[in-house]
Amino acid sequence: MAEARVPKWRTDFPFTAEGEDEVTRREFARYLVLASAAFAATSVGVAAWTSSLPVLHGPARAIVPARELPPGGTVLFRYPEEHDPAILVRLHDGALRAFSQKCTHLGCVVYFEAARDRMICPCHDGVFAARDGVVLAGPPQRPLARIAVEERTDGMIWTLAQEVG
Ligand code: FES
Repeated sequence: MAEARVPKWRTDFPFTAEGEDEVTRREFARYLVLASAAFAATSVGVAAWTSSLPVLHGPARAIVPARELPPGGTVLFRYPEEHDPAILVRLHDGALRAFSQKCTHLGCVVYFEAARDRMICPCHDGVFAARDGVVLAGPPQRPLARIAVEERTDGMIWTLAQEVG
């Protein structure tokens, strides 16, 4: 006896035409909610990421001749304004890094611990990585604000101009 052959799509999607509309609307609503949730999560993630990697904005400015900053060395300067303390360091591998000297906890002045490539805040034992400014220990919740710098062919170390916004 021959059975009526049921197409595969019918077994995979066993909905009537009337039901299909409801399912389609339901599925659409579900995708809409999921897409909105994914978009919101992405926005929050991007906002958190960008706020966790603060960069100070300001003009390009020569700081110091590069030959005066050996590995483990430190130069204090002011950036982006004259009342903003900043610190330029050369890590042991020769990389240059610069940060606001204000601790992100309560604003004490951080210093460079050259032996371990770390920034230290003496007020409450805050510790930051000198490579990227992330918090390693202590009460600070946010990384140090970084200042983009580069060594130029004129032999000077410069801050890079950063667009605000
Ligand atoms: S002010 Fe730096 S750890 Fe509290």
